[in-house]
Amino acid sequence: MKKLIKIGAIKEKEIEREAIDITVERSKSETLKRKKAQRLQPEYPKPEEYRGYEPPLRSGKERPVVPGVKNEEIDRLQRKMEELQKTISSIRAPDIQKTSADQAAAMQQMTDDLQKKLESLVNATANISKKQQVIDLETKLSRIENAVDKIQSKPGGGGITIVTEGGEPVTTPVIFEFPRVADELKSTGIITVGQKSVGDVRGIPAMLALPKSEKSKKISSEWEPTESSTVNIRYALIEPYAYVNIRWNEKTQEVVYTLIEPPLTKKENEVLKKLMEMVVDLLDINLMNVTEMGAVKKYLRDKVDMLIEDYGFELTKSEYDKVNYYMDRNFLGLGTIEPLMQDPEIEDISCDGVGVPIFIFHRKYGSMKTNIVFEQDEELNKFLTKLSQRCGKHISVADPLVDGALPDGSRLQATYSSGGDIATKGSTFTIRKFTKDPLTIVDLMNFGTIPSTMAAYLWLAIEFRSSVLIAGGTATGKTSCLNTLCLFLHPETKIVSIEDTPELALPHEHWVAKISRTGYGPDIGGEGRKRGEISMYDLLRAALRERPDEIIVGEVRGKEAYVLFQAMATGHAGMATIHAEATEAVINRLITAPISLSPGLLQHLNLILVMTNTRIKGVDVRRVKEVVEILGVDMKSEKPYTNQLFKWVPSGDYYEFSSDKSYILNKIVGEKGISEGSVWEELQRRTAVLEWMKKEGIRYYKDVGRIIAIYYKNPDDILKRVFGEKT
Ligand SMILES: Nc1ncnc2c1ncn2[C@@H]1O[C@H](COP(=O)(O)OP(=O)(O)OP(=O)(O)O)[C@@H](O)[C@H]1O
Ligand SMILES: [Mg+2]
Repeated sequence: MKKLIKIGAIKEKEIEREAIDITVERSKSETLKRKKAQRLQPEYPKPEEYRGYEPPLRSGKERPVVPGVKNEEIDRLQRKMEELQKTISSIRAPDIQKTSADQAAAMQQMTDDLQKKLESLVNATANISKKQQVIDLETKLSRIENAVDKIQSKPGGGGITIVTEGGEPVTTPVIFEFPRVADELKSTGIITVGQKSVGDVRGIPAMLALPKSEKSKKISSEWEPTESSTVNIRYALIEPYAYVNIRWNEKTQEVVYTLIEPPLTKKENEVLKKLMEMVVDLLDINLMNVTEMGAVKKYLRDKVDMLIEDYGFELTKSEYDKVNYYMDRNFLGLGTIEPLMQDPEIEDISCDGVGVPIFIFHRKYGSMKTNIVFEQDEELNKFLTKLSQRCGKHISVADPLVDGALPDGSRLQATYSSGGDIATKGSTFTIRKFTKDPLTIVDLMNFGTIPSTMAAYLWLAIEFRSSVLIAGGTATGKTSCLNTLCLFLHPETKIVSIEDTPELALPHEHWVAKISRTGYGPDIGGEGRKRGEISMYDLLRAALRERPDEIIVGEVRGKEAYVLFQAMATGHAGMATIHAEATEAVINRLITAPISLSPGLLQHLNLILVMTNTRIKGVDVRRVKEVVEILGVDMKSEKPYTNQLFKWVPSGDYYEFSSDKSYILNKIVGEKGISEGSVWEELQRRTAVLEWMKKEGIRYYKDVGRIIAIYYKNPDDILKRVFGEKT
C-alpha cells in the first residue's frame, strides 16, 4: 500500500484523489500510460517523470495560405506556438510540487489559462485567410509570450532544487525569490526548508497534491496579470486642447503616457514664436508670482491681442485659440509639462536628463514613460532655471541643487548639470505634485492603507498626546499619512509645523506653519551654513518658545530630530516622518550620525508607523506595514522595548491586531482612571464613527476635521447620526 505523507490539514484521501486529477489533465495517451503506471506503482509520480513529458506537437497541421503573407512567416508563428506550448507545460509540471498550496493553485490556474488561450489561437490559425488576422495572431502570441516570461522571470541563477523523499533532486525552471518562498513554505508547515542558498529547499513531499478547495480558488493576486498590458485610455488634461492617451505599446512592451496637443501649422508656429519673443518686453508684472490666475490670464490675453493687431497677424478663430493655448501654457504654466501638472492622476513627474523621456508616476498605472523629451542641454537647463525661479530660487553651475515649492504647492527637487558634471545625463528634476484636496483618514481607509480599527486606535493615541513617527521608503505616503493623523488633533490644539517645503494642509485655526529657507552665497562660519539660511533646526528651537501643544516636523533628517525629542521629553507631543523602511531602521537612524540621539531619548517616542508600497492585483497600493508602540528603553543594551500592535499580512492583505497588549490603551486607562472595558468601548465607538464617514462618503479634509471637532465637543451629536436616535 502506498505511503502517504501528511500535509498540514489536508486529508490523505484528498491528496490521493487530487493526485489522480492532476494526472487526468495531461494528454490522453500520457494519461493512459500514467494511469497504468499508477496502478502498478501507487506512489505519487516522481517529479523527474514530469521532465520527460511533452505535449503532442502540432507540426503535422497544415499551414494556411494567406495572400500577402510569406509561408515562412506562418511557419514561424506555428513554431512559436509549439515552443510556447512546451514552455507552458514545462512550467506547469514540476512547479505544482514546489510551491505552497496557494501558489501552486495560482500557478496551475494561470498556466491552464495560458494553455487554453494558446489552444484557441492554434485552432484559429487553421482558418486564417487575411493578412490582418496574421498580424492579430502575432500580437496575441506576444502577449502570451510576455505572460510566460513574467512567470519565468529570471533574476539570475538557476531555479529552486526540490529534494523529494526518496527521489532525485529536481531543479525547477521557475525562479523564486528564495527567502520569501522559503518563509512561505515554512509557515505552511508543509515542508521543512533547507538552509544555505538558493536551490536548497529540502524535505518537500514526493507530491504536493492540492486539495479541491485550493484548486478552485481564484488565481492569487501575485499571479494575476496586470491591467497595464491591455490599457488604452484617453482623457482631457486642458480642455479642449490637451489630452492624454495611456496605452500599451506592443513594440516596446510597455505602457506609455502620450500627451496630445494641437499641432501647429507653419504659419501658427511662426506667429507663436514672434508673440513669445515680443510679449516678454510688454509684461511689466512678474509672472513668476502669479496667484490670481484669472486676472493674469486676461492681462496676457490683452497684450497678445495688442501685438496681433500691431503686427497685423491675420488669424482665424481656431488659429487664435491654439496660439493662445500655447501662450498660456508657456507663460503662465510650466511649458511642456503644464498639461502633466494638470493631470490629477499624476503623483510625480521626473526628468532624468537630456534625451531621456520624462517619466511620471500614475496613481492607477504606476511609473511610465511619456512622449516628452528634452533633447538639448541648453533647453533643459533653461527650463530648470524657469522652474527654480517659480520657486523663488536660483539654480546655476555654482549653486546646482534646488529644493523648493512651486506656486501651486508642488515640491521641486532639481539638479543643474552642465556637461554632465554632477549628473551624467545632464540636469534632472522631480516634481511631487501637490494636491489641493489632501488625503484624509477616510481615503486611507478606502484605499486599504489603514483599517478603521487602526484609525480609531491612532485617534485615541493622538488625543492622549502620543508622539508618533511615520516611517517608510520614498513616496510610500508618509507625509500624506502625517497630514491625515494631524486631523485627529483636538481642534483647539496649538500646532506648530516645520517643513522644508509646505506640504501639510490642516483645518485647525491655531496652526502656525513654518518653512525653512536655504541661504545664498558661500558657506559662512565653517558650519556648512549660508547667509540667510534658516534651517528646520533653527525654526524648531524658535517654535519651542511659542508654547505649542503639538509639534509637527515634515521630515527629520538631522539635528532637528534632537530638538524634537527634547521637546517630547519636556512634555510636548510631536509627530514627524522619517525615511526608514522598518522599525529597527528607524531606531538605528535615530541613534547614529547624523541624527545621533542618545538612546535614552527614544523613550519619549510612543508610536512608530511603518509604511510600504506594493502591487496587489496589478494595482499600486500603500499599506501601513506595522504599528509599533515604544514601551521604554533598556538602558543596558540601549535598545527600546517595542510592541508590535498591528501587523499587515501581505499574503492575504489583511491586518493582525494584538489587541491584548496595547501599552497606549493601558496608559489611557491609568490616566483617566477608567476601566479597560470603557477604553475598548470608546475604541469601538470611534471605529463606528470612522466607518460611518466612509459609508457616507465624508472624505474632504475640512468635513472630516469638522466631524472630529464635533465629536470632541459633543460626541452624542455624532453618535446619534452614526447609530440613529437610539444612543
Ligand atoms: N495611502 C495612499 N494611497 C494612495 N496614494 C497615496 C497614499 N498616500 C499617499 N499617496 C500618494 O502618493 C504620493 C506620495 O505621497 P507622500 O508625499 O505622502 O509620500 P512620502 O512618503 O512623504 O514621499 P517622500 O519620501 O518623497 O517624502 C502622493 O501623490 C500621494 O497623493
Ligand atoms: Mg514626504
